[in-house]
Amino acid sequence: MLMTGAGISAESGISTFRDPNTNNHPLWSRYDPMELAHIDAFHRDPELVTRWYHWRFGACKDARPNPGHEAIARLQQILPAMTLSTQNVDGLHQRAGSTDVIELHGCILRWKCTQSDERTSIEQISFDSFPPRSPAGGLWRPDVVWFGEMLPELAIERTQAAATSCDLFFSIGTSSVVYPAAGYFDLARSQGTPTIEINPDATPASEYADVVIRSPAGEALPELIAAAFPEETS
Ligand code: OAD
Repeated sequence: MLMTGAGISAESGISTFRDPNTNNHPLWSRYDPMELAHIDAFHRDPELVTRWYHWRFGACKDARPNPGHEAIARLQQILPAMTLSTQNVDGLHQRAGSTDVIELHGCILRWKCTQSDERTSIEQISFDSFPPRSPAGGLWRPDVVWFGEMLPELAIERTQAAATSCDLFFSIGTSSVVYPAAGYFDLARSQGTPTIEINPDATPASEYADVVIRSPAGEALPELIAAAFPEETS
């Protein structure tokens, strides 16, 4: 199975959150997650939080999938039973052609009503004023998981099942510090499953991974897949 994080989208120009490479302009070095990505922050200041997520949506919309996303989409065609679970909310895996992507932290392209729980595409929402109001009398908020919130139950169940039963676990472009996502690497290891990390920089997972590839995902993944499946990728 593959677990991806913000690093897979770094080469698409989307900022990571934590990153020794300052060229990626890591968001949590510029902004305070407790002011912007916590459920209490939304309750305190819904205008600020929805403005910030609307701005981030703009960056995601303008970005294009990179060779890392594309290599993963190709790998899914070669190995249809492979599980792809992502912490990203940018929708770039799907835009690269990946299907059945488990979105552990939700999706910024979809917003939900605080009153009725109705979901809608962000394109359907009027952002004339912030926070945007829903027809049901509530507020529209991004359908992402904030600190202080539970991850979607089905996404947890499916990721946990895959981490327990997979033959190989890839940790790609994640700092491996945010739980429960970071715990699936440990779960796979505890089953004796080989693990591979792809990340230009060290993370807490690095010393436990069986193989560490210190390269950007957009370079490492196409090479790896071409080497593993020369006939399917030539
Ligand atoms: P992070 O931003 O924490 O980590 C990004 C990782 O990607 C870092 O370890 C970088 O070294 C690595 N990286 C940078 N460029 C890369 C590249 N080209 N190829 C491969 N790796 C690269 O992102 P996540 O681990 O996904 O949650 O963060 C987890 C969660 O923390 C996010 O979903 C978000 C954040 O707070 C919320 O907002 C609730």
